[in-house]
Amino acid sequence: MKKRIGILTSGGDCPGLNCVIRAAVSHAIRTYDWEVVGIPYATQGLLERKTVPLSIHGWDLRGIDPLLNIGGTILGTINKGDTLAHTDEILASYKALGLDALIAIGGDGSLNIIHQLAVLGNWNLVAIPKTIDHDVAFTERSIGFDTAVNTIVDAINRLIFTAASHDRVMIIEVMGRSAGHLALYSGIAGGADVILIPEVCYTIQGICNHLTELRDRWQKKFAIIVVAEGISVCSEDADNPSTCTTTKCGQGQYIAEQIANCSNHLIDTRVSVLGHIQRGGIPSALDRLTATMFGKVAVDLIAQNQYNQMLAWQNDKVVTFPIQDVIDHNPSLVNPHGDLVQTARSLGIYIGE
Ligand code: F6P
Repeated sequence: MKKRIGILTSGGDCPGLNCVIRAAVSHAIRTYDWEVVGIPYATQGLLERKTVPLSIHGWDLRGIDPLLNIGGTILGTINKGDTLAHTDEILASYKALGLDALIAIGGDGSLNIIHQLAVLGNWNLVAIPKTIDHDVAFTERSIGFDTAVNTIVDAINRLIFTAASHDRVMIIEVMGRSAGHLALYSGIAGGADVILIPEVCYTIQGICNHLTELRDRWQKKFAIIVVAEGISVCSEDADNPSTCTTTKCGQGQYIAEQIANCSNHLIDTRVSVLGHIQRGGIPSALDRLTATMFGKVAVDLIAQNQYNQMLAWQNDKVVTFPIQDVIDHNPSLVNPHGDLVQTARSLGIYIGE
């Protein structure tokens, strides 16, 4: 039977989404001779019953295929929306649009919403994980994370020279919501001196002692501090360091002010908030590869009538998990006792208690 499948991107955008679309469309048309339509702006497109045709002739006049190397999503996306107020209309859209299956590319929040709709509406759903936060459970890769890590490392590479020239402490605040993966990966890869993540409690005194030791013992007069946006303000009580209390906005600025106080304003700090630069740019080779594999396997799952599954990357293979199990385990956070944290410590990086 010739199928008509829909594909949508939901939640925050990231590099690599178009590579999934490209692979899924190409495989569905070439191998199975199906029709593929894009649904713009995720649930908003469903609500409005809009589709855009997708073909393998996505290249431009010179034969260049733009989907491979443009960031963001050609379908548009939303990370908010009043789904609950329009549930019945959205549920009816699947049938009204004549869909036989739906591929949803999203992060933990948006996949949760689409999954609930799919269960209520009896849709044939296959989910693909994307997020620069890397906080979707069970998958060793999520689309967008590798590119974002590379972007942050590039920023650190640049900051190191100006930091060293002025003997300054440069604080770079990165995204990640409640997970510290982005900060930890990029901090280690970029050669940071301090990495602060939500999963591990730090003390301001601990940071200041570390900066002093860098200068006095190792003659390093500048430092790079990577701060995850989700860190809390942790207890300075040495006997009870694991109590984290208030969550602040502007975590990088907060850390800078605390270092100034702690050092009697002797340590000169500057703060860079990387913001949405981390979500931009062209996808890395690894994100392209992962996206291509996910797009291809999603179509194969539909051919086998296997639904309500999320694709995941484990041990160099694409595997599947029931979406409900993934949702029940989200978000996936940094293991404070894991190898990466231990490695960071053994390199002399201050990462907290
Ligand atoms: O979930 C991805 C993410 O980029 C987070 O790291 C960040 O906190 C959030 O989205 C930013 O969302 P928005 O694009 O709505 O500002």
